[in-house]
Amino acid sequence: MKVNSWNGWDPLTHVIVGRADGTMVQAPEPAVVRDWPEHGFPAGTYGRLPDDMVAAANEQLDAFADLLRRRGIRVDRPEAIDFSRPVSTPDWEQGSMFGCMPPRDVLITVGNEILEATMCYRSRWFEYLCYRPLLGSYFREDPGMRWEAAPKPRLTDASYRAGFWEEYERLDFDEQIARVRENNLVLTEAEPLFDAADIARFGKDLFVQLSMVTNRSGVEWLRRHFPGHRVHAVTFGNTHPVHIDATWVPLRPGLVLHCGEREAEEELVQYFKVNDWEIVSAAPPARSWDDMPKLCFCSPWLSMNVLSLDQNTVCVEASEVAQMELLDSLGFEVVPVPFWDVAPFGGGLHCSTVDIHREGGLEDYFPKRHGRF
Ligand code: NVA
Repeated sequence: MKVNSWNGWDPLTHVIVGRADGTMVQAPEPAVVRDWPEHGFPAGTYGRLPDDMVAAANEQLDAFADLLRRRGIRVDRPEAIDFSRPVSTPDWEQGSMFGCMPPRDVLITVGNEILEATMCYRSRWFEYLCYRPLLGSYFREDPGMRWEAAPKPRLTDASYRAGFWEEYERLDFDEQIARVRENNLVLTEAEPLFDAADIARFGKDLFVQLSMVTNRSGVEWLRRHFPGHRVHAVTFGNTHPVHIDATWVPLRPGLVLHCGEREAEEELVQYFKVNDWEIVSAAPPARSWDDMPKLCFCSPWLSMNVLSLDQNTVCVEASEVAQMELLDSLGFEVVPVPFWDVAPFGGGLHCSTVDIHREGGLEDYFPKRHGRF
């Protein structure tokens, strides 16, 4: 057993796959708004997702785990805790926790290190506990593993812009995108905050999306924490950015998948181009916003939330035919995986996993500098 993973495409041999058990529509808190009156959860209410949805999601998660095992990949699973419990710190009380379906949000492996992210939802403050049994066992099994946790945030009201959501939802698209570009969103800069899923790993380059859950101080913390890397703060033309892995997805050296609807900064595009990377636009998703599963807080672009098993093999949601055809035309073996029942629990195939071991080492795929990169 060895912890090692530097990018999103080297051959995968060990992975964590999340669980749907006990997932909540979380209690209200400053960082997140949930409002699903048509599905029993109007704003301000909270509770467990229905048992039939949990069962359907777990069936798909278990089948995905089995598929990976059949390909020789070691699969570990987190331990759900009672997410319905209220939690508190000396600074705040929160009516419930959330769940442990998307390990990608909480943990990131960089080389021989597994880092626990700060997170910024009070409902997710304790989520790392679901992974501690696994992390402890890796620490015991692999004498080379580095186990790190970013500073636990205070998450007092000073960490959130008061009245943000009411003000933001009144802005038009261009005004919202201007706010996204300057990262003037719900988080203040009171303390470093980031979700691990806002980081895309391309060897020596780590691209970190400034978002609703990641602030500039969070990126600065990552920059100082990984002095051997180039850590870049990036934004995209997405009005509600949360996690980079349905926007800018590494597929193999020289090829990145981009959600064309979410415009990349020109300087980022040029950085890829001068280094001979091809930027491919993801295919249109199979679903529209109108036929998303109920209680889902993700976008139809989960279609591009793919998991690479190696440079030539990629797992794609089984109904995303256009996305599969695109990847097939780019020379990939495509492994279809039914997964839309998992979406209401926090994401797609990439979100639901975290790499523990991929073969290969640290490489520099961007030898040429461009602009601020
Ligand atoms: N929040 C993103 C999902 C990231 C995997 C989206 O909905 O597109």
